[in-house]
Amino acid sequence: MFRSTLTQLTKIAAPHRFLATTAELAPRVKTFKIYRWNPDTPEKKPELQTYEINLNECGPMVLDALLKIKNEQDSTLTLRRSCREGICGSCAMNIGGKNTLACLCRIDTNTSKELKIYPLPHMFVVRDLVPDLTHFYKQYKSIQPYLQRDTVPEDGTENLQSVADRKKLDGLYECILCACCSTSCPSYWWNQQQYLGPAVLMQAYRWLIDSRDQATAVRKEMLQNSMSLYRCHTIMNCSKTCPKGLNPGKAIAEIKKSLAFD
Ligand code: SF4
Ligand code: SF4
Ligand code: FES
Repeated sequence: MFRSTLTQLTKIAAPHRFLATTAELAPRVKTFKIYRWNPDTPEKKPELQTYEINLNECGPMVLDALLKIKNEQDSTLTLRRSCREGICGSCAMNIGGKNTLACLCRIDTNTSKELKIYPLPHMFVVRDLVPDLTHFYKQYKSIQPYLQRDTVPEDGTENLQSVADRKKLDGLYECILCACCSTSCPSYWWNQQQYLGPAVLMQAYRWLIDSRDQATAVRKEMLQNSMSLYRCHTIMNCSKTCPKGLNPGKAIAEIKKSLAFD
């Protein structure tokens, strides 16, 4: 009995002996062209640097390839990353012409096509793939992204909200502030100093419709000018590019509607 179970197990395990190791597979070499710029050598123009990776020896995501290059070929390559699962928003960059998160973006395994990677467009660059998000965060701060109330619940506990009111925040609170949407918006490219852009406006809307917040009138007043909100011309690049599948273009339309009719 024991012997026959053992034989069966051996049969099940046997195919593993025929699996080729990565070293035995024919190499699948993919070319990556990556934007490089170093603030320590400002006289040198930005350039695309070429790296080659055998995809058999690399994880499936673009972030895997970037880290492999950094670990094995060129430790000077600079990028931000933290969670490697689409939560922190720090690995946002322009990959193959689209703003997205490197950790959620699969490498196109067609090795005849090279992959170009740039930092998020129309932003100042700190170095290589790292954009300067100082202004973006300042704009986020400007919309006062926190609960504001004049009164506190009498029993001193939390501010309650109905299930229906809580549901209104779905599709808004999930934003990880990666800036992919804002940096894909032509209006933001040209008017970045005054136009808040889709990411920040979606958060402005998130606080506008929170039933627990009591600063609605002030929040609306802050947006009631020609630049902060109305530079959005409903081009919808923002919603097309969001790596979390959110719809900032719709949120902006809702703000416009509420400023016009409420
Ligand atoms: S809406 Fe999407 S693209 Fe824009 S910042 Fe949030 S998660 Fe990123
Ligand atoms: S919908 Fe508005 S915010 Fe979105 S890309 Fe177009 S102009 Fe920009
Ligand atoms: S590493 Fe955190 S979102 Fe990509």
